[in-house]
Amino acid sequence: MSEEKVYPVPAEIAAKAHINAEQYAAMYRRSIEDPSGFWSEQAERFVTWSRKWDSVMDYSYQAEDLHIQWFKGGKLNASYNCLDRHLETRGDQVAIIWEGDNPNEDRQISYRELHAEVCRLANVLKSYGVNKGDRVCIYLPMIPEAAVAMLACARVGAIHSVVFGGFSPDSLRDRVLDSECKLVITSDEGVRGGRQVPLKKNVDIALRECPNVTTVIVVRRTGGNVDWVTGRDVWYHEAIAAAAPECVPEEMDAEDPLFILYTSGSTGKPKGALHTTGGYLVYAAMTHQYVFDYQEGEVYWCTADVGWVTGHTYIVYGPLANGATTLMFEGIPNYPDMSRFWNVVDKHRVSIFYTAPTAIRSLMRAGDEPVKKTSRKSLRILGSVGEPINPEAWEWYYRVVGEGRCPIVDTWWQTETGGHLITPLPGATPLKPGSATLPFFGVVPALVDASTGVLIEGEGEGALVITQPWPAQMRTVFGDHQRYVDTYFRQYPGYYFTGDGARRDADGYYWITGRIDDVLNVSGHRLGTAEIESALVLHPHVAEAAVVGYPHDIKGQGIYAFVTPMAGVEPTDELKKELVALVRGEIGPIATVDIIQWAPGLPKTRSGKIMRRILRKIAANEIDSLGDTSTLADPTVVEDLIANRAVK
Ligand code: PRX
Repeated sequence: MSEEKVYPVPAEIAAKAHINAEQYAAMYRRSIEDPSGFWSEQAERFVTWSRKWDSVMDYSYQAEDLHIQWFKGGKLNASYNCLDRHLETRGDQVAIIWEGDNPNEDRQISYRELHAEVCRLANVLKSYGVNKGDRVCIYLPMIPEAAVAMLACARVGAIHSVVFGGFSPDSLRDRVLDSECKLVITSDEGVRGGRQVPLKKNVDIALRECPNVTTVIVVRRTGGNVDWVTGRDVWYHEAIAAAAPECVPEEMDAEDPLFILYTSGSTGKPKGALHTTGGYLVYAAMTHQYVFDYQEGEVYWCTADVGWVTGHTYIVYGPLANGATTLMFEGIPNYPDMSRFWNVVDKHRVSIFYTAPTAIRSLMRAGDEPVKKTSRKSLRILGSVGEPINPEAWEWYYRVVGEGRCPIVDTWWQTETGGHLITPLPGATPLKPGSATLPFFGVVPALVDASTGVLIEGEGEGALVITQPWPAQMRTVFGDHQRYVDTYFRQYPGYYFTGDGARRDADGYYWITGRIDDVLNVSGHRLGTAEIESALVLHPHVAEAAVVGYPHDIKGQGIYAFVTPMAGVEPTDELKKELVALVRGEIGPIATVDIIQWAPGLPKTRSGKIMRRILRKIAANEIDSLGDTSTLADPTVVEDLIANRAVK
């Protein structure tokens, strides 16, 4: 292997793993040479079908004829696969361990109990007229009812659209309207780090402009005061108590939609990534088992929120389809103290722990002590997701948290991909800190020159594309197929473009370098620069704004805004505060602008296009490598921005 530090696969992990190095090589080869045979076997192995598919895969990546279909004609129900089929063998096994924000609060829910609760809610949904294909918005904190709500939708064939509880009323409204939801499931409040989050209040504000929502089901989480709209609002516990605990699952085609999940792009409003049932579920279950090497009886914990794709695939669908015990955590890593994660690991004997680099970096900063005073003996596998993990954080995670005995799976994937695409397998892949390593089965990544689109062979760096579909690939942008085609398949014809840059080393290992489009990754949360700019220019004193990311020690990327005030407006610190509050209010607290620099002018080409490349360099304080500035309409603008840059 090449010059970087390499960690070989521990022998004791390889000996018991689902997939060892030889199996990875043989199965990978087969997945490419005989995709139909390979995926047929995996689909049979991981999912129970009520009717077998007619064809394994049918697709075209050509923009004019773009379509992707997996297991077409196959019939199944995702909630049946996550619940009913486990009842005989593991009805009393714990399906969900819930750990509250308050360390004294927890719950364990067996597969039998979860099944009954999902059936009850499914019956409630039906009684409010929710039918196959209807959209339901879920705006809940990290409580078991979030998983119940998703599975209840799946049971009746409704398409859920989960909106992260940290999004603002405006963001919620936009998503409810875009996917034309008729019902919203929320809770009175959420609780994080000892503080209440007013979810029902946010829903009330959002729904003022959503006339098509006729029902709001409200889970009682805190008992806090809420306003009540008679005829529209329904208490979850009352509705459930009156509903029958059995509900026949709706038979779905493999290509029937399972969910919509909004994600930010480089332009315009967030888009609703649409995932379908069969391929998604096969891939979720399979990656959950192979990538985490999930073994019967283990407790598995993914710290993500169900509002993100990681929560969908690796808290709910993957683990439950595999009959695993999945831990749901309501709180945050530093409450009540910096040992919280590791105390939860010890309390519930967690074997597999999956989190984001931003959490690792912030815990690392607090030193080893809060980790070392806990046992962590139950840990076997560690995972990372959401953004590139820097080698220092990787080493700390490996040495201090895992005590050098737990492989780290650095999983690269996206909302669009539905599941892991580039990732190590614990029993098969030697690790290099900072590299997501090798492709999963059936995945063929490639690098192309970002400007010419020419394929790069062997070692090199370029735009990361995928050359053929995998079962969990998103199928379309809800309500806007053209946007799907244009966003992902236009730039590099014949390929799916990920938006990421990557380097491939001499061993064929991939090193994700980050987004190369106008998408930011702030603490693992994905934000479009365009969304933030639209929020900033809503302020009457703002003439223009351009937003870029800059390197941030903890968050990975911070938000840096160049703002041009209206003529005659005094640029004050007070105005800066108003702008930060405005963006948080429009999008949500995840969109907290870190730095605002007043910009008398923005660097533009003669045709008026903002040259963000230059702004990114100024924000990162890389002013020696601004690149070609000869196409600027007014080069003096750049001099001013450099002189007044925030980071020097
Ligand atoms: O830039 C990549 C980064 O997160 C983006 C996808 O964000 P999202 O759709 O919100 O999904 C996040 C959870 C899957 C990617 O385009 N990303 C995700 N995982 C990694 C990563 N970057 C580097 N290494 C990773 N392991």
